[in-house]
Amino acid sequence: MSKRAQKRYTCQSCGAVLSKWSGQCMECHEWNSIVEEIIEVTPRSLASQKKSQSAKIDFHALNETFDNVERHISDIAELDRVLGGGFVPGSTILVGGDPGIGKSTLLLQCAAALSKKTSVAYVSGEEGVDQISLRARRLNISTAPVQLANATNVRSIIENIAHLKPTLLIIDSIQTIYVDTIESAPGTVSQVRASAFELIRMAKQNGTILVMVGHVTKDGAIAGPRVLEHMVDAVLYFEGERGHPFRILRAVKNRFGATDEIGVFDMTSQGLQQVTNPSELFLSDRKEKIPGSCVFAAIEGTRPVLTEIQALVTSSSLTIPRRSAIGWDSNRLSMILAVLEARAYYKFSTCDIYLSVAGGLRIVDPGADLAAAIALISALTNKPVPANLIAFGEIGLAGDIRLANHSDARLREAAKLGFKQALIPERSTRKFSKFALHKNSVSHVNELKALLASANHRTTQNKSKTGIA
Ligand code: TYD
Ligand code: MG
Repeated sequence: MSKRAQKRYTCQSCGAVLSKWSGQCMECHEWNSIVEEIIEVTPRSLASQKKSQSAKIDFHALNETFDNVERHISDIAELDRVLGGGFVPGSTILVGGDPGIGKSTLLLQCAAALSKKTSVAYVSGEEGVDQISLRARRLNISTAPVQLANATNVRSIIENIAHLKPTLLIIDSIQTIYVDTIESAPGTVSQVRASAFELIRMAKQNGTILVMVGHVTKDGAIAGPRVLEHMVDAVLYFEGERGHPFRILRAVKNRFGATDEIGVFDMTSQGLQQVTNPSELFLSDRKEKIPGSCVFAAIEGTRPVLTEIQALVTSSSLTIPRRSAIGWDSNRLSMILAVLEARAYYKFSTCDIYLSVAGGLRIVDPGADLAAAIALISALTNKPVPANLIAFGEIGLAGDIRLANHSDARLREAAKLGFKQALIPERSTRKFSKFALHKNSVSHVNELKALLASANHRTTQNKSKTGIA
């Protein structure tokens, strides 16, 4: 079949295809991201080609029973849980994250753990074999029977993997791999897409588990590999704040498990250590009696995680006061501020406001509204929230406070960690009476002032009874 080469212009940031070059992408508005790429096109339509080229397709009934697939458990429990209970044979997984966040470390540890049970190959296009061995020695896993290689050409990777037939193949990273039939440089959208397509096809044919690493650009999208998200079975992001040792593995897409699950790790000099009780970790640096801090009992996936929400409110000299949220949605912050102004008459409009989730955690749970509101009120009024109080609940535009899901798990975790009071939506208090916490029910934001005063009163009373005060 005759093919002819054609030029096209692809945005390296969002993958948009344009007919001519321009300095700025019209889709994502990124500057200098358009790159010329040569593609080969087949001029004739499929209908005009020989019928014999098509293969027979077998159709199956929906209720046809297949053998129960057995997952491969890595024994890194935090990773297995995010995957939905281990690796599904033949599945393809994309692991995204900032450069230097610890993707290679995590996958090397995972490779070493799985290699004790099954065959594992680790192909790196970024680091040499001796570099990886050195890292493995530092991580104390150098005796694990992992098949290491440094390669970048998809053709040679596929040919060599065909002999090796590993159960798990790790490609680090997809941006360094290239297909020699395409002229563009490795890391461009067309190279990333073509390389991933070939690797995924090979993995599906052989039933190999394929894990591809993808680096992320500054705006949070995987450069190029964002176009891969629909091609793979699972997309995991490895996140963390620079300067914080905590790393969070989050499933954003998973065809074989829940997507809101997280795994928590601690980056130490001996590599990534699992954090089995993240609440203790996130609350470990907490200072008591500081206005603007409230403990939020969050649910991340199936697991409760207690974390501290901090707020700072200062009078502003700017025409448009500053609003900044770290670890939380800034639109949500604006909404809560508007609700507190309109429904409970707190004055935030002339203040600069900063809100931060301690420990580098990023919260997506809508139940964070109430804890954020309490932190903001505490910062504005300069009155500390009792250190033994937790809060959760979703706030509506009318100022109403609604039930958050999994209230029982949140309360159980708070009671386990020694918290004595909970400020929670009314329906949660009615439903869950069994935990040893004093539950203050709240149904509207205008009740918060009185409730916080009585919670503070209760703390001082308890302290004087026990002689702590
Ligand atoms: P790496 O896994 O290479 O990141 P990525 O593959 O996502 O680019 O991790 C590199 C960082 O991790 C580097 O800054 C050093 C740190 N690190 C440790 O703190 N402890 C360790 O044991 C290892 C191996 C790395
Ligand atoms: Mg790496």
